[in-house]
Amino acid sequence: MRLAGADTERGRAVIAARGCGACHVIPGVRGATSWAGPPLTEWSRRGYLAGQHPNSPENLVAWLRDPQAMAPGSAMPNLGLTEAEARDAAAYLFTLGAGRLPEVPAGLPLGPKDAGPREEPRIRPRA
Ligand code: HEC
Repeated sequence: MRLAGADTERGRAVIAARGCGACHVIPGVRGATSWAGPPLTEWSRRGYLAGQHPNSPENLVAWLRDPQAMAPGSAMPNLGLTEAEARDAAAYLFTLGAGRLPEVPAGLPLGPKDAGPREEPRIRPRA
């Protein structure tokens, strides 16, 4: 993590207070179960932000400060986060999926029920 001084627990509180969960699935944030925007699960493993910027802490902070500046016309609103709030929120998002490597080699099914069609989505919103 390259966000010096940022605090992940403060970031979790910022995310809860700003209502990010009204549009995103965010593990660890109560009530953040909406699929209006893309789910933020395993954030640290994402390659791209908004489909066009490399997913770095700096780019995420810039995104949270002003999504329209990074992706004009994006449906993500500018929520008016301060620089400090954006850095804390970014630090929290980068804890998601960090430190956990996939235990199953790419291309192999995760388990007996993971090959073939399934009736339920694999990632369910958390309550
Ligand atoms: C009104 C709904 C809404 C709210 C509230 C909202 N977002 Fe978003 N967010 C979106 C949408 C829609 C996108 C997809 C935008 C795009 O790709 O242009 C998005 C994209 C993102 C992305 C990039 C996702 C990706 O896969 O590239 C992140 C990270 C993100 N939002 C974080 C947050 C955080 C943190 C908050 C709270 C401070 C928040 N969002 C609040 C709707 C919202």
